[in-house]
Amino acid sequence: MPCPEVSFPSGELRPALGLGTWRFGEQPGRRSAEVASLRLALEMGWRLVDTAEMYGDGGAETVTGQALAEAQRAGVPRNELFVVSKVLPDHAGARALQAACEASLCRLQLDSLDLFLLHWRGGVPLAETVRGFEQLQRRGLIRLWGVSNFDLDDMRELGAVPGGRACATNQVHYSLGQRGVEYDLLPWLRVQQMPLMAYSPFDQGELVNHPRLRPLAERHRARPAQVALAWLLRQPGVMAIPKAGNALHLRHNWAAQQLRLGADDLAELDRHFAPPRKRQPLAVR
Ligand SMILES: NC(=O)c1ccc[n+]([C@@H]2O[C@H](COP(=O)([O-])OP(=O)(O)OC[C@H]3O[C@@H](n4cnc5c(N)ncnc54)[C@H](OP(=O)(O)O)[C@@H]3O)[C@@H](O)[C@H]2O)c1
Repeated sequence: MPCPEVSFPSGELRPALGLGTWRFGEQPGRRSAEVASLRLALEMGWRLVDTAEMYGDGGAETVTGQALAEAQRAGVPRNELFVVSKVLPDHAGARALQAACEASLCRLQLDSLDLFLLHWRGGVPLAETVRGFEQLQRRGLIRLWGVSNFDLDDMRELGAVPGGRACATNQVHYSLGQRGVEYDLLPWLRVQQMPLMAYSPFDQGELVNHPRLRPLAERHRARPAQVALAWLLRQPGVMAIPKAGNALHLRHNWAAQQLRLGADDLAELDRHFAPPRKRQPLAVR
């Protein structure tokens, strides 16, 4: 069965499943194991990697860069990879944004990023950040830009600034345990044909052995983590970027792409993890 994909507003198709890298690059003694884990993932077929200048103070980008460089030397074509990084709100002003992107690219050993996100909204006016993203595009340093942790009001405000409608995605916390975005943000993004990138799809590990997921998982001869992931990946326009630090978890998460949930499964999940009935503040991790 084909792996799920999403379409960006530009029309390009990319995998719906990607790798998270938060907590990588924090401890020098773990770096070679982290590079090996990312390399293994790339060998398995994972092609989308999400990182940020914040993670490990650049350490996660350094680890990711090493794994990407090794994978390319081993024959993975650059144009198959989709590398996402994020800029801190304090670096989202005109000059700082250019410098932050250059530093990220240096750590990632890349000439350009596929997608550069504003990690969360800070004090810099959105119009200035959008101008900065456009300049990075003109300089060939990024292809697409987007945002993270924006609620619906933020997205509407962004859409109203010059160039703001070119935003490619909004990366937010979305999981079975955190379904608030279904009420307003996700339907709005679908109308804009903008994919939602779901971070912390396992609620940072809380869902991976959830007792409410076990019976359903057992019926499918799957793991609770795979059910949590398959539930996200079955939705049009939703991407998910689980972080996994070992081979078994990477394999299980990759295999979750082939798990098909039926109407009865979805109804059972709705009973245990109720969809929102009113607007909720955006969940932030
Ligand atoms: N934009 C933002 O503000 C933001 C915020 C948070 C996260 N993110 C991004 O989203 C990514 C994912 O979110 P997250 O790291 O917060 O948490 P997560 O992906 O929800 O959960 C990660 C945890 O689940 C475990 N796990 C992964 N696969 C498993 C499996 N098949 N079976 C059992 N356990 C499994 C991992 O353990 P092991 O490590 O031992 O495999 C880890 O403890 C981050 O790494 C980051 O790239 C973005």
